[in-house]
Amino acid sequence: MEKSLITPPGVPPATEVLSVLEVARRARKNPLSIIPQLAYEQPIVSGKTVIRWHMVMDPGALKRVFLENVENYPKSNVTLRLLKPAVGESLFTSEGKHWRWQRRATAPAFQHRNVVQLASMMTDSAEATCKRLAAVADGAGVTDIDDEMTTATFDVVCDALLSGRDALNRDELIDALARYLETVGRVSLLDVLGLPNWVPRPAQLFSRGSIRDTQAMMEGVINKRRAKIAAGEEPANDLLNLILEAEDPKSGRRMSDAEARDNLLTFVIAGHETTALTLGWALYLIAAHPPTQERLAEEARSVLNGRAATGDDYDKLPFTRQVIEETLRLYPPAAFLSRNAREADTLVDRKIEPGDTVMLPIYTLHRNELLWEKPNVFDPENFAPDKVQARDRFAYLPFGQGPRICIGMNFAMNEAAIILATVASRFRFGVAEGFVPVPELTLTLRSSNGLRLSVERR
Ligand code: HEM
Repeated sequence: MEKSLITPPGVPPATEVLSVLEVARRARKNPLSIIPQLAYEQPIVSGKTVIRWHMVMDPGALKRVFLENVENYPKSNVTLRLLKPAVGESLFTSEGKHWRWQRRATAPAFQHRNVVQLASMMTDSAEATCKRLAAVADGAGVTDIDDEMTTATFDVVCDALLSGRDALNRDELIDALARYLETVGRVSLLDVLGLPNWVPRPAQLFSRGSIRDTQAMMEGVINKRRAKIAAGEEPANDLLNLILEAEDPKSGRRMSDAEARDNLLTFVIAGHETTALTLGWALYLIAAHPPTQERLAEEARSVLNGRAATGDDYDKLPFTRQVIEETLRLYPPAAFLSRNAREADTLVDRKIEPGDTVMLPIYTLHRNELLWEKPNVFDPENFAPDKVQARDRFAYLPFGQGPRICIGMNFAMNEAAIILATVASRFRFGVAEGFVPVPELTLTLRSSNGLRLSVERR
């Protein structure tokens, strides 16, 4: 396979020093495009664009930020500015005590045992996806695979979190979220200048409608559930129920309606978009590299024998998992995290001052020349067991690390493996004639022109 390895499209680094205005212009379009070439070659890059910032790509320093000195690095003002209007003080956006009790309350839903139970919903969604792909194969022959995967993962989220697909109108929600991403989800000049969050960003004014719409949808779901319980129905064993029943073991406190609504939206957004992107990029990559596609299909066919994958197959699909891991290296959905330092610290050889912005550009970490032999090449062998063992755990962070590590990591990995193995065992994918994706970061790393693939039955 070595000879035919491919280098899929990435985001070109900034090669010159950028003015504040240029940084703002580029950051609004695609924040990854402001990352300098040096960040792909060095462990840390620092600078000042009105505010002092550091980009950290050193595994030891990342361990310090995510784990050893985590209290010193709360989520950054910009992150909160982008997310709080929609999800308030929810699990993703809160800190300290308020974060801890919400994490404890929701963690049971994501324990291994529960994820295995939820896997049957992932299998159902894989079957439904195959039906849709069969219609594409027998019809137009070409489709936007990112849309197909969004439908697939949205179905899973509705089943697993809300016990049903009819609780939410998919098209309305996706439309409202897209409007949100296009407005609040974009970094503004005011963020680059480090202005406080209470200064309204122009885009924010346009986004209020989309936020109100999504919040109203979540409130609708909660009200329906409360009405069912009031009518004497047995509560479903799902995440919505956990949220509504969650109680702080110390204070006995429960979530207010607004908190429940904000957490529900957090899980619906975080729980489907990122996994859909992973699946979309994985299918694009195997379509662009037929030898990997054939190896994956062979593994899936020999394990599955024509049926759809289940939770029990996860351990039997090591190459499928390697493809997913390599996809998350090249196109990590959460490509850029950031924190603000509370107190002075040292990272690598840099003095960090209180208030400094500490950027954790996961995309750049995963393509850093000091850490990866062929950083931009698609090669699932990067995740062969011996390679993983030899590598620093903090060189690869698609799900973050430490106490704030993604709560849905196992859920997402199971879901991606079940859907990818099932569709790859039944269909052959190709990159549509002349199509080249353009990776772009809004809140997550997507292709700005979709992912157009051809689909044929095997
Ligand atoms: C491939 C799919 C996914 C990726 C790449 C991903 C990535 C991440 C990352 C990087 C973080 C840490 C953010 C930070 O430290 O600033 C995170 C946190 C989180 N993720 Fe995921 N995620 C995925 C799937 C999911 C799923 C399926 C769910 C829920 C069903 C979920 C829910 C959350 C929540 C609630 C948090 C906040 C946890 C906390 O702060 O305690 N994610 N995710």
